[in-house]
Amino acid sequence: MKLILALCALVALAECIKVPLIKGKSARQALREKGLWEEYRLKFPYNPTGKFAAQNGVESMTNDADLSYYGVISIGTPPQSFQVVFDSGSSNLWVPSTSCSSQACQNHNQFNPSQSSTFQTNNQALSISYGTGSMTGILGYDTVQVGGITVQNQVFGLSETEAPFMAYMQSDGILGLAYSSISSDGATPVFDNMMSQNLVSQDIFSVYLSPNGQQGSVVMFGELDSSYYTGNIYWIPLSSETYYQVTMDSVTINGQTVACSGGCQAIVDTGTSLIVGPTSDISNINSWLGATTDQYGDSTVSCSSVQSLPAITFTLNGYSFTIPASSYISQESSSCQTGFSGSSDSLWILGDVFIRNYYTIFNRENNSVGLAQVA
Ligand SMILES: *[C@@H]1O[C@H](CO)[C@@H](O)[C@H](O)[C@H]1NC(C)=O
Repeated sequence: MKLILALCALVALAECIKVPLIKGKSARQALREKGLWEEYRLKFPYNPTGKFAAQNGVESMTNDADLSYYGVISIGTPPQSFQVVFDSGSSNLWVPSTSCSSQACQNHNQFNPSQSSTFQTNNQALSISYGTGSMTGILGYDTVQVGGITVQNQVFGLSETEAPFMAYMQSDGILGLAYSSISSDGATPVFDNMMSQNLVSQDIFSVYLSPNGQQGSVVMFGELDSSYYTGNIYWIPLSSETYYQVTMDSVTINGQTVACSGGCQAIVDTGTSLIVGPTSDISNINSWLGATTDQYGDSTVSCSSVQSLPAITFTLNGYSFTIPASSYISQESSSCQTGFSGSSDSLWILGDVFIRNYYTIFNRENNSVGLAQVA
């Protein structure tokens, strides 16, 4: 570990700030394979915008059953490794701890504070609510390594209890990349510390999510890499510095407005897999696609119709971002699901289904998001 880090520093820092992301199974897929999904869905109704309920900064709620892109970080001295979801839709870093006896902690890596010489805590309590349950624990401070960047004195959550469904998450914890204004306990987010400790050459990070089933997804800190995109980067100013929230002008199919008529608010969220919008708008899109919605809220189309489905255009700051059917339909065994999910909230979520089409730059220098067609 030490040797690799030293080499990175000598050779090319740029090679070291890229954190490869793995596309794993989501909790939803794991549950489905075990035949438990429908039971869970009924017990814990899906509430994707549950994470956006608390705008007052007391609780930033993240996560749903679909988190699936994760990468490795380490915490402590000597380093203890964890897989975390890099989530632009929340702001806290947390991992399981050895004081946690929930089932979800038993099948994940646990941070052992007594094994780290640099660990400190004041035992402040932390609680983060999810659509499907909650995580509670305490705050600690330690050295955190992310892709060769070493952040000193990073505050993070050590879980003591975790909701049952987290046992089905592949990642151990979550690394939130949004603004501190929505961080539980006001805990300073990792990227804020990277900026204030001068660990990044520019106050930006960028994300490339590879198409389904392919390797190569990355999150990059302090840099953008032009090999991931083609054409221009289109910049959209944020309308709120909480999530990466922007104003969406409309959603259209073949020039006809099908949703977000008159404008709406949307967030760019790597931690949500689908595109989420208000129920009536999403129903409208799904009916344009000829999709039927089952009792669990999943909308499916006949797989044989995918070829003929239209592209859908999301207009942001006057720029059109069009995604083809091949990117918004996913095949799950014999059924084909649309990537559009309804919620009771007015806020739209442009999740992985959208982001896989656009190399995304989160710009903290001027509070904007840049989108460029993936190469
Ligand atoms: C933000 O910075 C980028 C890159 O420097 C620039 O091209 C863009 O116009 C700026 N966007 C806004 C909204 O100010």
